[in-house]
Amino acid sequence: MKTKKKKVPEISSAPGAQSCMFIIFGGSGDLSRRKLIPALYNLYLDKFLPADFCVLGIGNHQENDISFRRHLLEGINKFSRRGKANPKEWKKFSSVIYYVNGDFTKKDLYHKIESFQKEKEEQWKLKPAVIYYFAVAPMFIELISENLCATGLTRDRLRTRIVVEKPFGNDLESARELNDDLTHCFKEEQIYRIDHYLGKETVQNILAFRFANALFEPLWNRNYIDHIQITVAEQIGIENRGSYYEQAGALRDMIQNHLLQLLSLIAMEPPISFTADEVRNRKVDVLHAIRPVHKDEVQRMSVRGQYGEGWIDGKKVKSYRQEKNVVPESSTETFAALKLHIDNWRWQDVPFYLRTGKRMGENTSSIMIQFRPIPHQAFPSDALENWQQNRLIIGIQPQMGITLRFQAKRPGLKMLINGVDMVFNYADVYSGVPPEAYETLLLDVMEGDATLFMRADQVEAAWKVIEPVIESWENNPSLNFPNYAANTWGPELAEALIARDGYHWFVLPKQQNVP
Ligand code: BG6
Repeated sequence: MKTKKKKVPEISSAPGAQSCMFIIFGGSGDLSRRKLIPALYNLYLDKFLPADFCVLGIGNHQENDISFRRHLLEGINKFSRRGKANPKEWKKFSSVIYYVNGDFTKKDLYHKIESFQKEKEEQWKLKPAVIYYFAVAPMFIELISENLCATGLTRDRLRTRIVVEKPFGNDLESARELNDDLTHCFKEEQIYRIDHYLGKETVQNILAFRFANALFEPLWNRNYIDHIQITVAEQIGIENRGSYYEQAGALRDMIQNHLLQLLSLIAMEPPISFTADEVRNRKVDVLHAIRPVHKDEVQRMSVRGQYGEGWIDGKKVKSYRQEKNVVPESSTETFAALKLHIDNWRWQDVPFYLRTGKRMGENTSSIMIQFRPIPHQAFPSDALENWQQNRLIIGIQPQMGITLRFQAKRPGLKMLINGVDMVFNYADVYSGVPPEAYETLLLDVMEGDATLFMRADQVEAAWKVIEPVIESWENNPSLNFPNYAANTWGPELAEALIARDGYHWFVLPKQQNVP
């Protein structure tokens, strides 16, 4: 990790970008290789990085700068949205990546970090922003932050930031403890809790769609909206994350963070400005207004599932209980659905249905806003064979777009009404591949903008929403797992959850057009 005295080649930079050191605990791990370094590399290619920039990876693998860079290059070649790295650009970019092998528990590591920082500061003749990225298992977070603090590495509160990956706690109590621990060493403004969904283009666009248009906001309430569905469906199983997933399950892994964040963006009041605290205040208001699910109601308001074996693309896939590091009688849920209400003027009586699962019938994430029926039906019944209520569908991924379904007269001599779509499809309007969520989020950390990050109170409020469900599920393990086959849409009871209210789950078809 010793840096040479001779000047390193300057990497291309954005005018005015703040000089910055990126120190990754868990630098040799999967997150670095798959997400962080490809994101930084793409920011470099797009000229968003400052001239004085470097990355220090910290891990417990016996690597040196050269072998570390090689390991990261493989990651770029495999996972970067731009595909294989350009050798010339990679050489330039990677020349500012270093590695230090160390044990997070030993003071000695923190002294090495300190001398690395000093050396860079002398070389750059300035004091850069320093970002400590915790790409580590949750049990190390407290330890690392205490050690950073004890060594005085976080003394300068204005230019030191930490980034914490999920899971942020395992329940309300542990999240509170973690927040308390972190605030011994850091101010809230220094803590960036990542929820990568907030960096997705289509998710950020919810704010633009709602608050940059005059058209929709007057309709965005209980007077016009009948119900809302949020689906995040994945076709993959748990891959090699059995040990983590056994402790998490779908509720903690997806609903506590990603789905509740989507819900907050859809349901929040208009912010007065786009400052980090104003946006986060409006979002946390929503979480606070979610009606607590009483423990006697958990069964009526939620459904859990676990995937069994099945077939995907002609290949047999294992059941959850057969996955690596999963106990054969596991009662961890891989599917969760919830019905929630928001107790405020805007949303009273409008149900929000949330569902997510692994090994679902498709990879598809969308938000469907169904509007109320028209107040009086004047058309004769034979005109209405294909009648469908107005809907607005926000495609999050992989279909990215917004569709408005409305009724139209079918051309012809008779009055026949059917649903048609007004479609905004990203691919039709914009060329190129949009930035990955991590690119947006890492740039925001470097620029000190916390709008798209979770504040302590948001994380705790989200745990509070799901806590009764967690407790009830843990106290009453399911007796019928596995209860859905891989490559299906979850357990039958999930259909019942919504059918009881007269609805069906919505699935955004592969093309953006609605059925
Ligand atoms: C992660 C979850 O936060 O999000 C994973 O831990 C999940 O289980 C992933 O697969 C989904 O992210 P994306 O961006 O692929 O939708």
